[in-house]
Amino acid sequence: MIWIENVSKTYQQGKQEVHAVKDANLHIRKGEIFGIIGYSGAGKSSLLRCINYLERPSAGTVRVNGTELAALNEQQLRMMRRSGVKSA
Ligand SMILES: Nc1ncnc2c1ncn2[C@@H]1O[C@H](COP(=O)(O)OP(=O)(O)OP(=O)(O)O)[C@@H](O)[C@H]1O
Ligand SMILES: [Mg+2]
Repeated sequence: MIWIENVSKTYQQGKQEVHAVKDANLHIRKGEIFGIIGYSGAGKSSLLRCINYLERPSAGTVRVNGTELAALNEQQLRMMRRSGVKSA
């Protein structure tokens, strides 16, 4: 249902690169419940924002119900977040 493949998120902070998420891989099937745990700054919120595409991953792909989120525009992303499909 949700496939996260080689997802990384890097922020530029001045001259420094912050690697918030490094090469995350996860497959979540329908009905499964996942928790994300980790110390403060581990990248939990960054990973979640990459899964719902509130932020675009620096690398890797996120697919929901077979649709690769990178291919969607903002309106399609909103539909996807609401219902899990890209159009009504
Ligand atoms: N917009 C941003 N610009 C630059 N660096 C960021 C940004 N957002 C997060 N970071 C950095 O990325 C890393 C991961 O942050 P993130 O907020 O994802 O962690 P978290 O696990 O959710 O932490 P917390 O438990 O405190 O909520 C941290 O080093 C943070 O400072
Ligand atoms: Mg957080």
